[in-house]
Amino acid sequence: MTHPVETAFDRLDTPCLLLDRGRLAANLERMETRAAGLGVALRPHLKTAKSAEVAAAIPSARSHGITVSTVKEAEYFAGRGFADQLYAVATAPGRLGRLAALVRAGTRVRLAADNLAAVEAIAAAGRREGLVFEVLLEIDSGEHRCGLPAEAAELVELGARLAAGPGTRLGGVFTHAGHSYGCRSIGAIRAVAEAERAAVVHARDRLRAAGLPCGIVSVGSTPTATFAAGLEGVTEIRAGVYVFQDLFQVGLGVCRIEDIAATVLTTVIGHQRRHGRVLVDAGGLALSKDRSTAALGPDGDCGYGLVLAADGETLLPGLRVVDAYQEHGVLEGRDGIDFERLPIGTRLRILPNHACMTCSAFDRYHLVDGMQPGAVWPRIHEWV
Ligand SMILES: Cc1ncc(COP(=O)(O)O)c(C=O)c1O
Repeated sequence: MTHPVETAFDRLDTPCLLLDRGRLAANLERMETRAAGLGVALRPHLKTAKSAEVAAAIPSARSHGITVSTVKEAEYFAGRGFADQLYAVATAPGRLGRLAALVRAGTRVRLAADNLAAVEAIAAAGRREGLVFEVLLEIDSGEHRCGLPAEAAELVELGARLAAGPGTRLGGVFTHAGHSYGCRSIGAIRAVAEAERAAVVHARDRLRAAGLPCGIVSVGSTPTATFAAGLEGVTEIRAGVYVFQDLFQVGLGVCRIEDIAATVLTTVIGHQRRHGRVLVDAGGLALSKDRSTAALGPDGDCGYGLVLAADGETLLPGLRVVDAYQEHGVLEGRDGIDFERLPIGTRLRILPNHACMTCSAFDRYHLVDGMQPGAVWPRIHEWV
């Protein structure tokens, strides 16, 4: 019987979330350089990392500002000195009191709106709380998740309502080209990036032509930020996944497998020799049930994740997490499994399909430098 090779990770209980310091630093630097090259500011979206320590490692997060996706994140980062924020999700009216408390305490947290009812609710809360909410109008640049088209008649009406106050101020416009994830070539991502840019710049022009202010012109997704050919008229990009990268970004051509900084450390807990399967203790709760890479076709489909040896470098070829129960992950190999090489107790690392979803199950990162576990960085993982 083969025994598992002892590693420096043996003292960590599994499943747990590892964060490779060197890869993180390289990813951060690449996007800082990219934004500088495009002549725009970077407002990183911290919904992926949800960690003040990660934010502190991003130069732009302090010098320019951050994006958040929940009020919980807004409060958490405000409490750690990140005072310039864009809360880039439509606000449930019941949360405006908490957002008012942040504004009153000195955090410049900008809100999103794309319809009159939302604008009126924000304005009423601003008046009630005796303060001014700065609001960005959300533009739909093609994803159709939310936002209004740049040419919508009501754009100027909403802008004027926000600019007039009381209780509100018009801060600018923003859009998120989430449909870049549906692209299957770099050329197609570039075209979406241009549509993203053109939409917000057109919206800005219409607002300005009506005599309204439009200071912030904000775009961003990791694919479009990576491949945009030019961003004339844009003031900032918001990307989030780039900090860790993931298998979907690899499939899109945004990064390489070697760039993925966040992995789940897991332990082999069972052999199903009759069925050619190995069981690990990272199932759906640890990896998420995100199957986004299935959309990349048979060559890009990574199941629930690909498998690295504990060293974080060696990809175990052909091995994938093919099924994910609550606590069990099931590995299969394209050409079968060498069970002798994966004895019970073996530590492995799983590369995530979608970093935001996988990380969300964990309340901390275990920093690693190659094979050496180091500091522990907390992260928030609730959203209310
Ligand atoms: C409004 C908004 N901005 C920026 C981003 C960041 O994009 P990505 O996840 O591709 O880094 C997202 C992601 O969902 C988003 O919803």
